[in-house]
Amino acid sequence: MFRLNSAIDLEKFRQEILTHRDPNKPSVAICSGTGCHAYGSEKVAEAFVGEIEQNGLRGKVDIRRTGCHGFCERGTIVVIFPEETCYLRVKPEDVSEIISTTLLEKKLVDRLLYEDDNGQKIVHEGEIPFYKHQNRIVFGNNRLINPKSIDDYIALGGYGALAKALLGMTPEQALEEVKEANLRGRGGGGFPAGIKWETARNASGDIKYVIVNADEGDPGAYMDRSLLEGNPHSVLEGLIIGAYAIGSHQGFFYVRQEYPLAVRNLSIALEQAREYGLLGQNILGSGFDFDVIVHRGAGAFISGESSALMTAIEGKVGEPRPKYIRTAVRGIWQKPSNLNNVETWANVPLIINKGAEWFRTIGTEGSKGTKIFSLVGKVNNTGLVEVPMGMTLRQVIFDIGGGIPQGKKFKAVQTGGPSGGIIPQRLLDLPIDFDELSKVGSMMGSGGMIVMDETTCMVDVARYFLNFLAGESCGKCLPCREGIYQMLKILNRICEGTGEEGDIELLEEIAEVVRDFSLCALGQTAPNPVLSTIKYFRDEYEAHIGEKSCPAGVCKALISYYIEPDKCQSCLICLRECPAEAIVGGKNLVHIINQDKCTKCATCLEVCPPRFSAVTKLPGMKVPEPTSLVLEVVRK
Ligand SMILES: Cc1cc2nc3c(=O)[nH]c(=O)nc-3n(C[C@H](O)[C@H](O)[C@H](O)COP(=O)(O)O)c2cc1C
Ligand code: FES
Repeated sequence: MFRLNSAIDLEKFRQEILTHRDPNKPSVAICSGTGCHAYGSEKVAEAFVGEIEQNGLRGKVDIRRTGCHGFCERGTIVVIFPEETCYLRVKPEDVSEIISTTLLEKKLVDRLLYEDDNGQKIVHEGEIPFYKHQNRIVFGNNRLINPKSIDDYIALGGYGALAKALLGMTPEQALEEVKEANLRGRGGGGFPAGIKWETARNASGDIKYVIVNADEGDPGAYMDRSLLEGNPHSVLEGLIIGAYAIGSHQGFFYVRQEYPLAVRNLSIALEQAREYGLLGQNILGSGFDFDVIVHRGAGAFISGESSALMTAIEGKVGEPRPKYIRTAVRGIWQKPSNLNNVETWANVPLIINKGAEWFRTIGTEGSKGTKIFSLVGKVNNTGLVEVPMGMTLRQVIFDIGGGIPQGKKFKAVQTGGPSGGIIPQRLLDLPIDFDELSKVGSMMGSGGMIVMDETTCMVDVARYFLNFLAGESCGKCLPCREGIYQMLKILNRICEGTGEEGDIELLEEIAEVVRDFSLCALGQTAPNPVLSTIKYFRDEYEAHIGEKSCPAGVCKALISYYIEPDKCQSCLICLRECPAEAIVGGKNLVHIINQDKCTKCATCLEVCPPRFSAVTKLPGMKVPEPTSLVLEVVRK
């Protein structure tokens, strides 16, 4: 039976793989992450297989279905090596041209290349602005390996860190290296991983558990999913090293139910690792035994919280418990249990391989290494970005994200998931790290970054996140269960035009109680969206309450549509299209919206021909009275 029994075996095997791989042989990497899959990457891959066969290129060109490359909105992404020619938005019908032009004639298919703002075509993936400013130490291998192939991972040096730790370091040394690196948890609070490991290691008892938190419940976030789908061995390797350092022989992957591809690729990775002797008994001949179980979460946001997650693994309802005693001391079945986020674990092999000193050269004083963000919202280039800690929000949003679409103005960015905070335009030069984000009332969270433009209402945004959190609160403790609900009720009435004097102060008062007295971090951080929007956008709250207007023009109850009489050409289009029959007028008669009938559906605004642009959205409920002249014209 094939099995790797030592570090020498592993290195020999790696060399053997490399001797069969010609670095100059053309190879086509087709992104098969969930994003590109949704764009039809499987059909693109099938087309490549068929065309390569038809063109007699079988054996002369490699095809690799890889994990997510990060630039998901431009899927399907295809990169051709060794030149690293990057084609975006590839469809099956483009494949034959790519083969004939790029693989056979060594020329470019211009229309599939990235085009910058000046109309310049960019050929290489690494030179596209979206990638150029990133430092993809954790995520970068996704594009180079087929996640279903352990050989691909080993070819890139995979499991070398495991061999180094198991066969060349004591558990204490491995732990010390991670502590020295000051790796902080990527899943939420930024707690130093090495200190947590040490607590679990020093806790009494022979049975200890290590766990990967792949619950990833933040709306819009998919960093962990993409890592687990695209490079599952990197997370597994980190976990085994952690288990060795802590003295654990049993691990868990807690993966949310909605991540089928991640579960599939992870399960394949586990099988392959067991087959190669990298998981199970006597790993790499070191005498160390360790195995893992995949636990599928039921998809509740609260189950990502450490104590709730561990309760769920025990087979009970995933609710948090008071943490008078830390889970690292008493977790699953009362045993010491060390939980870390997917990305945290994936950093561990890098630290062991390259050393704590190297790791500490990246990042800021208090936050070392890189962080993967899911950059979404009103930004030109959305996707997954990995940047060194300390890069500014401006660099991420404008240099990598390409700024705000349709020439609109940047207004704010929300970091840290649903219970993160909203950061205004004037803080765009804030360096992103755990401490800086907390100082301004937000947090790193697991890496969600939602960009908002001038058309976003900040009261509505706070309401949106509170609505999510109210639904996700497990209801076990009163401050969270009732407090979030009461805050939501106030926000609802402010957005619906029935806000009252004193509502802002009441929101602040309740927020304080929820923050200080909730059982777990869901409640403790839930007030962040409310408090940060009040702090930076108080004038918007005041406009909603005092003037009954929504300056961004979002809250339906606080806006009006109005037809400007001097621009209206009496073309009848809006009158005919209005589903509420709220528009009066006629041929040659100026049209008027009956505000009592109007449902604010915006149809009139959308259908009014741009050359007239007679319909405007007003940020308030008062519209100019029709003049007697207009009324006369209408009446006639
Ligand atoms: C409501 C709630 C949901 C959470 N969801 C996640 C999650 O999906 N993934 C995650 O890694 N951490 C999540 N956390 C943070 C975890 O409780 C825990 O701090 C983290 O998994 C520890 O790993 P780290 O130290 O590597 O960050 C959540 C916390 C709360 C309060
Ligand atoms: S899934 Fe293809 S780039 Fe993300």
